[in-house]
Amino acid sequence: MQELAKEWKRSGIRVALVPTMGALHAGHLSLIKHARQAVSSSGKVVVSVYVNPIQFAPNEDFSKYPRDLQNDLRLCEETGADVVFSPSDQVMYPYKSEENAPALRESTYVCEGFLSQSMEGVTRPTHFRGVTTVVNKLFNITLPDYAVFGAKDFQQAAIIKRMVRDLNIPVEIITAPIVREADGLALSSRNRYLSPDERTQALCLSQAIALARQNVSQASQDAQSLKADLKAFIEKNPSAQVDYIEFFDPETLAPVAKVQHGVQIALAVFVGKTRLIDNATL
Ligand code: PAF
Repeated sequence: MQELAKEWKRSGIRVALVPTMGALHAGHLSLIKHARQAVSSSGKVVVSVYVNPIQFAPNEDFSKYPRDLQNDLRLCEETGADVVFSPSDQVMYPYKSEENAPALRESTYVCEGFLSQSMEGVTRPTHFRGVTTVVNKLFNITLPDYAVFGAKDFQQAAIIKRMVRDLNIPVEIITAPIVREADGLALSSRNRYLSPDERTQALCLSQAIALARQNVSQASQDAQSLKADLKAFIEKNPSAQVDYIEFFDPETLAPVAKVQHGVQIALAVFVGKTRLIDNATL
């Protein structure tokens, strides 16, 4: 992959990368379309499909994360990607094996140290280190001019932008809007874990955002009391349990005390065993 990317670079061909963990859905396909727009027909669109072990904690869903490479390849082809880079763990982390002496194992990570502390970073303290490390590796392997990330992972996109800024990485980050089902549920590979009943209850995330929006247009609101109202609204669903609801500045991710127009809301909710996230600018 890296040899091919170098060859493209030497020929002046522009490259857009869409990093994914596979189990592709219409949200990912929209990222591929954004990538194509960025490089036009003369450039190359690379989709990486890799379930990155180091961004999952031991108690998370790494082993059962959906994998369907044949279907992913078909969707990438239909959507006009040029290359799918689907490495094995052996390719991405060749020194990780327990058989290797500690002195030989991988020991370099990329850590963003501020934006990663809140929200997802509280429940998943090692997650973003895994994301920023693998995204750097993918950048170094595919040498992209552009990389496209989905806005559903709002905090992830903010952290990647900060990393690129702080480390002078010559990649332009594009964030593509959330794609939703007709009833409002944000598309996610994890939606396929939901039973039919949980699927209905999962609407509480987008409904809570709509409720927050209504409150903001009526009067500016105290963040703490609005959070409590939304939590009660969500947990009326018997399988739903709020992990966090945050109101914050979309640039700095700093929490706000008053919820006004332009404030970002992000929330994570367990619906049964499945943890779902959503967000919006109010
Ligand atoms: O958003 C994802 O699917 C993953 O976090 C990413 C960016 C592909 C890194 O593994």
